[in-house]
Amino acid sequence: MAKKKARIVVVGSANVDLTTFTDQFPKPGETLFGKSFDLGFGGKGANQAVAAAYCGAEAHMVARVGDDLFGPASIRNFKKLGIGAKNVKMVKNVSTGVAPIFVEANGQNRILVVKGANDKLTPKAVGKATSLLKKADMIVLQFEIPLETIYYTVKLAKKHNVPVLLNPAPAMKVDLAKIQDVDYFIPNESEAEAITGKAVKTVDDAKKCAEHLLSKGLKRVILTLGERGALLASKDGMDLMPSFKVKSVDSTGAGDAFIGSFAVFLGEGLPEREAVSRANLYAAISTTGIGTQKSFIKRRKFDRAWKKRSRA
Ligand code: RIB
Repeated sequence: MAKKKARIVVVGSANVDLTTFTDQFPKPGETLFGKSFDLGFGGKGANQAVAAAYCGAEAHMVARVGDDLFGPASIRNFKKLGIGAKNVKMVKNVSTGVAPIFVEANGQNRILVVKGANDKLTPKAVGKATSLLKKADMIVLQFEIPLETIYYTVKLAKKHNVPVLLNPAPAMKVDLAKIQDVDYFIPNESEAEAITGKAVKTVDDAKKCAEHLLSKGLKRVILTLGERGALLASKDGMDLMPSFKVKSVDSTGAGDAFIGSFAVFLGEGLPEREAVSRANLYAAISTTGIGTQKSFIKRRKFDRAWKKRSRA
């Protein structure tokens, strides 16, 4: 049972995912039949807000969508799921963010994001949500919005003493000096590699990479390593929290499931290691279903799974 309801505010992207399941990719000039198709709401920010809401948080979204078919539908989706959407606004003459996604037979995905209205989430737009941001237990950020907005939000959070979690996804170069004040920095292998220039192929590599990030002034780093688990690193030491074995069909959104659920578990006051372990399980379960938000489970179902599989 949750100790307290966490208030999570996600400042981030909202996309519509167009997912094609296929065994083969066409060569240039070739046409092939795919196996099946799924249309769903996505975007790393929105996915994280949905995971947080499903895990029992009071979740809010600060985002921008376009004035096309997908914009109003995305806002309706937030409302339907009980996510605060007062700060999700429609921008004229811009498309909503979209993500054509391709999933292979083994569940591996390739994603192309066209950011559209997500690029209109400016510092000024975030500033308008200050009264909401000030009350958060955790502000959650990713990289599908302008970098200057990330830097601005980190500063704003610091000013109001609100913890911030930054998930630097998708991979992008970032000025580490401008994000020193984040409380949790959570990249996966390829994101960590893009940011530090250090290859992350093994757990040892991951430890070296985390050390490098800490040496640059970041306080707490969690490197998510897929089937190898998650490496929790801070000046107090490093801890590899193992993953959970599942039958995976689509890994799209697993990283978002980890982030959204981790923010809630931590916001509820659970010990950090347990919060990571629970997030590992929540993310693993999400890979057993198709789609992004559609593959996330609600808290009651998660609690049953945790009871069976927890190693704590
Ligand atoms: O992390 C998965 C998400 O990445 C998808 O929902 C897609 O929209 C892209 O943002």
